[in-house]
Amino acid sequence: MNLDYNNRPYNKREIIDKEVTWDKTQVIMSKTNARGIIEYANEVFVDVCGYEDYELMGQPHSIIRHPDMPKVLFKVLWEKLKNGENFHAIVKNLAKSGRYYWVITDFDISRNDEGEIINYFARRRSVPQEVITNHIEPLYRKLLQIEGASGMEYSEKYLNGFLEERNKTYVQYILELIYNQEKLDNHNTKAEEEKGFFSRFFGK
Ligand SMILES: Cc1cc2nc3c(=O)[nH]c(=O)nc-3n(C[C@H](O)[C@H](O)[C@H](O)COP(=O)(O)O)c2cc1C
Repeated sequence: MNLDYNNRPYNKREIIDKEVTWDKTQVIMSKTNARGIIEYANEVFVDVCGYEDYELMGQPHSIIRHPDMPKVLFKVLWEKLKNGENFHAIVKNLAKSGRYYWVITDFDISRNDEGEIINYFARRRSVPQEVITNHIEPLYRKLLQIEGASGMEYSEKYLNGFLEERNKTYVQYILELIYNQEKLDNHNTKAEEEKGFFSRFFGK
């Protein structure tokens, strides 16, 4: 059995420090039940992660969890989702091949007539490489080290301190990183700028 840095089992036999090659204009989409069990994945999801549909359906989403991901991110993600709030997170995922791919998430929550959450829809897009290399990887590495040494209680405290220093929430922090990088890349036309970051990013 493979154990991650927190001594938790993960699904891969082998980790390969190479990125999956994928069409980064595409949206990777999945639908789960309220417990995060996969009920649907689009073709892009299947292509990028390398699992067949029959290997994904009925499985927990942690099937693509990468051991480089700090636990605290998923703790915050689930707190938000169970509370009925959307959440954006930058996540490193693990393909069946052992390769990785980085994405930013966007969620939709669906409820039954009683108001109970029955499904989550996750849409994921690629993240500029500079954001990963210069900001996210160093932060996540630190959180993971803290988790390994002192547990998630302290990685959460560190993350909170990091964000408090910048006077931002996690979501504000990552969206600004992406927005600023895209501005630097100078790919934005005036019209796209006016459309606004959220709409341009997630097509809403
Ligand atoms: C709709 C939805 C999508 C998710 N997408 C991912 C994902 O792409 N990658 C991932 O590692 N976890 C994802 N998760 C979180 C997993 O359910 C899980 O919390 C995470 O992989 C960590 O595993 P653990 O909770 O067993 O520690 C998603 C959860 C939901 C509800």
